[in-house]
Amino acid sequence: MPKAYFENNNFKLYLGDCIKLLPHFTGEQFDLIFVDPPYRLSNNGFSVYSGHKTIVNKGGWDKSQGLEKDFEFHRTWLKECQRVLKPNGTIWVSGTYHSIHTCGFALQKLGFHILNEIVWYKPNAPYNLSQRFFTASHETLIWAKKNKNAKHRFNYKYVKDANWNEDFLKSPGEQMRSVWAINSVRPEEQKFGKHPTQKPTALLRRIILASTLQGDLVLDPFTGSSTTGLEAYLYGRKFVGIDVNQKYLDLSIKRLNQLKINLQKKN
Ligand SMILES: C[S@@+](CC[C@H](N)C(=O)[O-])C[C@H]1O[C@@H](n2cnc3c(N)ncnc32)[C@H](O)[C@@H]1O
Repeated sequence: MPKAYFENNNFKLYLGDCIKLLPHFTGEQFDLIFVDPPYRLSNNGFSVYSGHKTIVNKGGWDKSQGLEKDFEFHRTWLKECQRVLKPNGTIWVSGTYHSIHTCGFALQKLGFHILNEIVWYKPNAPYNLSQRFFTASHETLIWAKKNKNAKHRFNYKYVKDANWNEDFLKSPGEQMRSVWAINSVRPEEQKFGKHPTQKPTALLRRIILASTLQGDLVLDPFTGSSTTGLEAYLYGRKFVGIDVNQKYLDLSIKRLNQLKINLQKKN
């Protein structure tokens, strides 16, 4: 097994291509895998950021290689995730329309069983500059189990009764529906630097608390700034993250250190 780039208190980060690193992981060991893979949307389109026209390119890692190659890429990491997922574990895959249908097809081809499709609605999404399309204001998450017969974990009662006051669509004590209203990442979550596709902590908090128990082992093979890892750590889950870009692992470490300081202050 290659040496971890960073390891501390059940929080491990590996630097490298997850397609090359995942085969080193042995056995069905992960209770939850959250995956926010490259969307393959960085093909010189435009969007709005802080009121200004900006090119949407996120980085070389996010360029499309064409439909067939993109499908093969997603199928390859998904197959590895299926191999290391516990028999009753679940996987969450997040994406925009550029990637999520390809991932959904690959999931089904590999025999995963889809449990839910979640619409993450962003009430504060930026407006559409061209005024020729509807304003993109959601991302999609697919929640799936390893195969049809697997018994997956869903903390139904907790999800129904807990306080999700960031979401105006969730009424207290009512069942949680498959449309979640959560704003995009807040500026204070990016105070150590910006990851171009950083997920809000509120989104990962919900996923982790809904589908794991304390002590469970969580994997994120495209960890970026490790939003998954931070929420895993905060709620007593163990975490393994992989990213090909060292600067994002360094950002993850800064975010973890800040979280630890905040927790110490609270205690
Ligand atoms: C969509 S972003 C994940 C963002 C993350 N969820 C967060 O909250 O910060 C995808 C990440 O995958 C990384 N990446 C791209 N290709 C990779 C590969 N083959 N192996 C590992 N990481 C990769 C990129 O560097 C990027 O940080």
